[in-house]
Amino acid sequence: MSETLQLIKSRISANRFDTARELTVDEIRELVGYATEAPSAYNIQPWRFIAVTAPAAKARLKAVSYNQQKVEDAAVTFIVLGDLQGYERLPEILARSVAAGIIESQVADGWVEMARAGYGGNEQLRRDEAIRSASLAAMSLMMAAQAKGLVSGPMVGFDPAGVKREFGISDRFLPVMLLTVGYAAPGNWPRKPRFEVERVLAFNDDRPDWE
Ligand SMILES: Cc1cc2nc3c(=O)[nH]c(=O)nc-3n(C[C@H](O)[C@H](O)[C@H](O)COP(=O)(O)O)c2cc1C
Repeated sequence: MSETLQLIKSRISANRFDTARELTVDEIRELVGYATEAPSAYNIQPWRFIAVTAPAAKARLKAVSYNQQKVEDAAVTFIVLGDLQGYERLPEILARSVAAGIIESQVADGWVEMARAGYGGNEQLRRDEAIRSASLAAMSLMMAAQAKGLVSGPMVGFDPAGVKREFGISDRFLPVMLLTVGYAAPGNWPRKPRFEVERVLAFNDDRPDWE
């Protein structure tokens, strides 16, 4: 099996982190660099990451995360945010692709209009998109962490209003998930069983008994 496929098969959500091993700022930047390789609608890249590493900040984050201990134990917990107004940055984003010769400027102008029409009056879609794209970035970050010999843990167990309050996050940004990353300590659960593929995969018009 290729190394990439092995990484996919070996990732687990870690609860136990080695509290003695930190990550450098450069290591954290590198992980986020891989996260930003994820795809996003129109390449809007609505993800933002707050790396919580300082003990006092970790304690504040833990308090609004149902006291989940891993927030304090992991080298870093990322607050993964989604920009609810990300489409507004599309002219700048697409100008880069035009400058790089990847798309033509008429195409870019058309997409800007399409995105304005699609997202402008549709709060639900903006929220869905922020969650979709930020979640893909979080998955890329988890795989990058795994490749670097680290472990990770995605978390929805937090109070979004509390996280926003504690870290001065404006209403423009949606806390999508927390993501702990660090070195493993002993005692993590092994990989958990999954549904068989037959149970989750349908082809074309065949409808298995999902209801
Ligand atoms: C969106 C999301 C939110 C999660 N929230 C938490 C959480 O708050 N606390 C926790 O201990 N695990 C959390 N998990 C981890 C899941 O329990 C874990 O992914 C699942 O049991 C499968 O185990 P595995 O990731 O080790 O394969 C979360 C996972 C996801 C994808």
